Amino acid sequence: MKNIIAKLGVAWFTCLVAMFLFVGCPMNEKSPIGFRLPEGSIWKGKTAFVELGCIQCHSIEGEDLIPELEAPRKVHVVLGGEVTRVKTYGQLVTSIINPSHVISATPKAEFTDTDGNSLMPDFSEEMTVRQMIDIAEFLQARYEVVIPSHAYGDYTYGP
Ligand code: HEC
Repeated sequence: MKNIIAKLGVAWFTCLVAMFLFVGCPMNEKSPIGFRLPEGSIWKGKTAFVELGCIQCHSIEGEDLIPELEAPRKVHVVLGGEVTRVKTYGQLVTSIINPSHVISATPKAEFTDTDGNSLMPDFSEEMTVRQMIDIAEFLQARYEVVIPSHAYGDYTYGP
């Protein structure tokens, strides 16, 4: 009898492990897994970065942005290089389209208003999706951003 219980236990455990391997962890609805932008143009991204006025507050490590500003910036956050926080593709895009979600760089107070929101304006009305794709492509190279290596389509079960 003891033996059977032990065997059932092992079977149950194996089953759990198998379920975990096949189904994976229960996924958060807002998980970034599977998020992937189409390829963009670095050159167009650089143009959009200047045209949208990102250069009002940002310079980029090791990059000459034309035109250089004449007046000193009120807010200055250097993007790219080793000192920045953005590490993943998701973080990079989020910091562009939802800046207050991930506030970067210390000291925070310098870059936020009294409510703790980012001083970076909301570009979602004026930036086209194409510009966002190109800007992500342009900045990615400056950040050594990690792109998720898999998308939903890579997991196919059965026929
Ligand atoms: C008025 C100033 C301002 C403008 C204009 C602006 N930003 Fe920002 N940006 C900030 C500030 C302040 C931060 C740091 C706080 C934060 O993470 O939101 C920041 C952070 C970022 C970060 C994350 C930096 C990091 O290393 O975590 C990215 C990427 C970025 N901005 C891209 C852009 C792009 C692209 C544009 C133009 C479409 C733009 N910004 C326009 C002020 C600005």
